Amino acid sequence: MKSVRKSRQLRVARTISQLRRAVLPWRTAAEKIALVPTMGALHGGHFALVRAAGRCARHVVVSIFVNPAQFAPHEDLASYPRRFETDIAALKELGADLVWAPSIQVMYPTGFATGIVPAGPATVGLEDKFRPHFFAGVATVVGKLLIQCMPDFAMFGEKDYQQLKVISQMAKDLDLSARIIAIPTVREKDGLALSSRNAYLSARERAIAPALNRVLKECAGKIARGEPLQQVLDEGARAIEQTGFLLDYLEARHAETLAPVTSAADGPIRLLVAARLGSTRLIDNLPV
Ligand code: PAJ
Repeated sequence: MKSVRKSRQLRVARTISQLRRAVLPWRTAAEKIALVPTMGALHGGHFALVRAAGRCARHVVVSIFVNPAQFAPHEDLASYPRRFETDIAALKELGADLVWAPSIQVMYPTGFATGIVPAGPATVGLEDKFRPHFFAGVATVVGKLLIQCMPDFAMFGEKDYQQLKVISQMAKDLDLSARIIAIPTVREKDGLALSSRNAYLSARERAIAPALNRVLKECAGKIARGEPLQQVLDEGARAIEQTGFLLDYLEARHAETLAPVTSAADGPIRLLVAARLGSTRLIDNLPV
């Protein structure tokens, strides 16, 4: 792993007052701060965000918090990978300044009663259709993280494209001062988007998984060559299911609003896919 900056001391804050003590002197000195929100089990995708944060700002804060509010009861909160010590070692190597690692009780104290319920890109019928709890949980925790850390920049991956749009809209609507920075998806050599959930895949499933990105690329090529949109998507859906995935959706949407599109002329188009392989749910997306 390539370090972008000279390794300096990495502090870990676990309470709001520890976080404030670390961040306030930077703000007082008008030194720029970039925040990278994560749920830990860090991989090369997260590291790309941390490196980009280091290029934007003098101080890099990485939050590690597995946010219960964005998991439905049947989802993988309990089994979600947790590798705090390994994460800390990697972040030290990358030259991050501060890890914000609140407990659930610090983030959601007893009696917690206020949340953010996003609409717009959060209700377009993609992830929200299959994970109705998800974006209120994400928006609430990211809103809190932005208020807690007071960053000038906050980095998010295009890998979670609808999430990126929901957070950008929220920052705008609530006049949050952090600039939301989008970072392109980091992939394995075979095209599979890096994800903490890839750790769940069996060897057989791991061999199938790159089909998701391969089909997205094929569809993007066909649409760019002028083939009819719905036909391309139908063929893509069949190709994904033939590899062994159960498809949640494969859709073409307007890249900014995520509104449905009927032809390439309605673009710019983003293709978005979600599919299940055994008990693992994978998502990916690609511009046309
Ligand atoms: P998590 O899945 O840990 O992802 C943290 C950030 O890393 C997100 O912005 C995500 O889009 C980005 N990321 C993940 N895989 C990536 C890849 N292969 N390439 C580029 N970026 C990638 O997303 C979350 O956590 C949570 O919902 C969170 C925003 C932290 C709120 O709890």
